[in-house]
Amino acid sequence: MTLTDELSAIAGEAFAGEGLESSLGLVRVSDRPDLAQFQCNGALAAAKAQKENPRALAARIAARLEATGMFSKVEIAGPGFINLSLRDETLAERANALAADARSGGWRREEPETIVIDYGGPNVAKPLHVGHLRSAIIGESLKRLLRFVGDEAVGDIHLGDWGLQMGQLISELERRRPDLPYFQEGANGPFPSEPPLTLADLEEMYPTASAACKSDPARAEEARKATAALQAGRPGYRALWRHFVDLSVAALKRDYDDLGVSFDLWKGEADMDPLIPDLVEDLKSKGLVEESEGAQIIRVAREDDKKETPPVILVNSQGAVGYHATDIATIQDRVRNIHPDRMLYVVDQRQRLHFEQVFRVADRAGIFPESRLEHLWFGTMNGKDGKPFKTRAGDVLKLRDLIDMVETRARERLEESGFAEGFGEAERLDIAHKIGVAALKFADLSNPRTSDYVFDLDRFLAFEGKTGPYLLYAVVRVRSVEAKARAVGAGAPGDIVITAPEERELALALLAFGDAVRAAYEKRMPHHLCDHAFRLAQSFSKFYAACRIADEPDDRIRSSRLRFSATVAAQLGCALDILGLEAPARM
Ligand code: ARG
Repeated sequence: MTLTDELSAIAGEAFAGEGLESSLGLVRVSDRPDLAQFQCNGALAAAKAQKENPRALAARIAARLEATGMFSKVEIAGPGFINLSLRDETLAERANALAADARSGGWRREEPETIVIDYGGPNVAKPLHVGHLRSAIIGESLKRLLRFVGDEAVGDIHLGDWGLQMGQLISELERRRPDLPYFQEGANGPFPSEPPLTLADLEEMYPTASAACKSDPARAEEARKATAALQAGRPGYRALWRHFVDLSVAALKRDYDDLGVSFDLWKGEADMDPLIPDLVEDLKSKGLVEESEGAQIIRVAREDDKKETPPVILVNSQGAVGYHATDIATIQDRVRNIHPDRMLYVVDQRQRLHFEQVFRVADRAGIFPESRLEHLWFGTMNGKDGKPFKTRAGDVLKLRDLIDMVETRARERLEESGFAEGFGEAERLDIAHKIGVAALKFADLSNPRTSDYVFDLDRFLAFEGKTGPYLLYAVVRVRSVEAKARAVGAGAPGDIVITAPEERELALALLAFGDAVRAAYEKRMPHHLCDHAFRLAQSFSKFYAACRIADEPDDRIRSSRLRFSATVAAQLGCALDILGLEAPARM
């Protein structure tokens, strides 16, 4: 139960005591913190329904709240709002309970679910680009959030390893190296275990092949044929495909690792291929499939669609299966192997139609209910020109280059700001890496998921303001308070007592964590946690500036402030961990 839940329950009893709905007692954090800590607006709605004077009703509710002895202020404002502030003793008591909680007062789900979360979706042989960056950052954070509240979360990368790009690559290599054993007609292997090319070759080959296929229909036909032969199981092509996947996966693991992003499952579209024939039969037997111009399609349009939803092409006229079919098969595979309650897809907004179609088919086929499939789409990371972010040369930026760029700039920032002075080279590099990645991730997560935002590295890397580096610095500073206290023998933390306005603020900030976790979880929006972490860091900063801690002479106050610091360190640590930010030991 969060603090506002508890207060809502108490106010709910007051309403019930007047013979009214207890849900009217909803209490939330005040819009006007200068006037009160909390507010309850239920008396207005109740009075309207009862045809009563709202202030008179509010007064009766207020009297009941007053009688609980919990509040230092119960005030009626305007037409009948009730403003509430807690007594310092009440606040201290709740803060002490939070300090003793291993989850720092974080909200927890009553009935946890098993949830598959699909984020990443990189494509083999195509470099990871910034479009995949948000997927990884937001998905990783949501996975951690699900686990924090108690769900069983299974992260799946859903590798794009079965599409046309594979045929483009195979045919490209065949043109360049027709002598390779993979291309000999009727060859059954065994084929060499070492790949015939490097990752760099692969990365060079893909753009060439894809450009050639775009401009030359004959070349495109070659690629389509190679794709079909691969999907039909031609052994030489399968062996090559394996090499392409292995080379790509090794590189992908390194990039994701650098970002602090990981997956439980490394399944790909190709893994679904064996399921497709049965799936198609199943969908046919359910009467969902129609023949149209040589292709097998499923109509998914609904009467109330604002814009007509086009049919799903399950198998195209050449007999190849595409992105829709593999996604539907993936749902089936997950149902069979993981038995999830829900599946989340963190994929950009351009794929809204795709998921709408896939979800409708899964639902109509009785594979999985649509209401438990969520496409958590996100907006675009733009350049300063308002268009999707590109390099100066106008290319789509590779994730690898982005990470390098962010680290380099973080290193420069470190130098300019005098942080990490006198530390060894390896530690400075590590700090620059952590700051750079935190800057990137926090900038991404702190915007509402569905908004676009502008990539501005210098702003992301600032040590002041709502940034990743500011939060890392805040954590390092809170921890240094504890180290200092130990060094001067300040004693152990003790019960929290509130003796200064900055302590009151800090207690309220700590106690808001539960609501932030719940909002982030229920809306699938990590920015609520970013807002919380920032506010907590700021409240701590004010407390740190105004209050003596390790050198406070009064034993009781000193031990309380040590507890405050330890609790902030723990809760900020929790929040940063959910966001996937890693703080250095010092900076
Ligand atoms: N590979 C796809 C792309 O790059 C993204 C995959 C997202 N996940 C999914 N289950 N469709 O666009």
